[in-house]
Amino acid sequence: MRMDMKTRIANLTSAAMKALWPEAEGLPAPEELRSLLAVPPDPAMGDYAFPCFRLAKSLRMAPPKIAEALCAGWTHTETASVQPVNGYMNFFLNRENFARETMAELMEKGERFGASDMGAGKTVCLDYSSINIAKRFHIGHLSTTVLGNSLKRIYDFLGYRTVGINHLGDWGTQFGKMICAYKRWGDRETVEKGGVDEMTRLYVRFGVEAKKDPTLEDEGRAWFKKIEDGDPEALEIFHWFKDVTLKDAMRVYDILDVHFDSYAGESFYNDKMQPVIDELRAKNLLTQSEGAWVVDLSEDKMPPCLILKKDGATLYATRDLAAAKYRQDTYHFDKCLYVVAYQQDLHFRQVFRVLEKMGCPWAKDCVHVAFGMVSLGGEALSTRDGVIVYLDDLLNEAIAKAAGIIEEKSPNLENKAEIARQIGVGAVVYTTLSNNRIKDIDYPCDKEEYTDEDGVPRTRYQINWEMALNFDGETGPYVQYTHARCRSVLRKAEGVSASPDWRALTNDEAQHLLRLMSRFPDVVKEAADKYEPSMITRAVTDIAQAFNKYYYEHRILDGEPEAVAAKVALTAATASLIRTGLWLIGIEAPERM
Ligand code: ARG
Repeated sequence: MRMDMKTRIANLTSAAMKALWPEAEGLPAPEELRSLLAVPPDPAMGDYAFPCFRLAKSLRMAPPKIAEALCAGWTHTETASVQPVNGYMNFFLNRENFARETMAELMEKGERFGASDMGAGKTVCLDYSSINIAKRFHIGHLSTTVLGNSLKRIYDFLGYRTVGINHLGDWGTQFGKMICAYKRWGDRETVEKGGVDEMTRLYVRFGVEAKKDPTLEDEGRAWFKKIEDGDPEALEIFHWFKDVTLKDAMRVYDILDVHFDSYAGESFYNDKMQPVIDELRAKNLLTQSEGAWVVDLSEDKMPPCLILKKDGATLYATRDLAAAKYRQDTYHFDKCLYVVAYQQDLHFRQVFRVLEKMGCPWAKDCVHVAFGMVSLGGEALSTRDGVIVYLDDLLNEAIAKAAGIIEEKSPNLENKAEIARQIGVGAVVYTTLSNNRIKDIDYPCDKEEYTDEDGVPRTRYQINWEMALNFDGETGPYVQYTHARCRSVLRKAEGVSASPDWRALTNDEAQHLLRLMSRFPDVVKEAADKYEPSMITRAVTDIAQAFNKYYYEHRILDGEPEAVAAKVALTAATASLIRTGLWLIGIEAPERM
């Protein structure tokens, strides 16, 4: 199998150590050595640096002496020349050799460069998006949707079996109230037409009317009881509400190209909680507190985890306990990721702890992949105060703006509508995945004051698209544009068939680009380890920038045919890698823009 340059350097260095100090114990094995190889911040210090401090103890030698000895004995100059600097062994790759080896690997693997089978035989469950029924899909659910989608693709790429789960919020007394409101003031056609908005309107009306007539609350409760008891009419309406909500959500999922393997939501666990409650009781974990049943977690310095309310009703946590067990029994996951906002941190710590107390060894494989808060123009989201942007509005607006730009820049493009969708989605997804997930995201907004139908003054929040759709800044469209630029060069290069002369790629710009590309497989693995798609966003952006720098400094199609062949191959590899990287974060790469 072909080896990447870092592995090769690690192996050679490891062998050199063994040869120099055959008796020494505790020298790092090649794999560990590879992880110790650092990339100096300044390329003048070399491509890799090995810190010799790590060996001082085993060899009973000062690090600078070790570095000097290692460098003096180094014979692999066809791979890299070396230099001892302050206890580091610095490697300067042989540029032509590095270009040849890296290009060989890039060309061999193509769009699978960075893929792996490290996950073979392992399963990762991902709980993401997990929207709530009868609520409109708004910007607050954007992060979980695109983060989860990206993580799923990353784990797929690394060979894992993945199970995408949309843990629908489809249980709660509000559905009883909604049915009550629907029976009194709604009709089928209006709900079919108005969708989730109409359901929300009914629910709001229920609140208003119930203030005047408190018996409505009883009526709402009675309807909820009917859903619980499986009354056919109540169930029919409830399922229909669900279908209408999902139909709305599907439009968003289609635009984003996001998919799930399961829509088993909270209500799915209605008949799966009793065994969990019985088990908790049998294991003496349930205690009564003010009439409710809880698992005491004071030893863990957490508030108790609520399992049953006074009236016997189950809770969010009860459902999550049943869901976790169901997922383990059904999918035998090696990891179960919950891509949910940071605000639910305590909830997940409680649930995972209770699973541990129940004796589930796999509780340690449950991970809350938390992310930061979303705000609009500096204001926290609030449906009530109108600080809200709906996801379909957001996406449609991005797509419309992208269409406008295409119309201006390349009016003769084929397939304009589809490309506008790809660019609009690219802008939105990139913005969401461009920083560490835990960082709060503030979407820059323009605010517009208006008066609604009822005469109430309101504010409409419009994302500021100038930034997100900029083709020159660090944006999704910029990276997509770089890919399209590569493809355009490649179309002009058709027919180039000479055997590549890799000396054409020994200049600084080409080497920098190759260096970034050669690190990509490590980036993908690290992104998976840290549940951090933004690392891939960073990597593709750096690669796009490096290519553009190269493109401005070097004429790809000019020169000796062998040199052109090498430059064209580099361009093809860049296009392919950008495409792969974008795909991993959930962005498409149009051929032309
Ligand atoms: N529906 C919940 C919400 O919107 C998220 C559910 C997350 N998943 C879970 N298993 N609790 O806040």
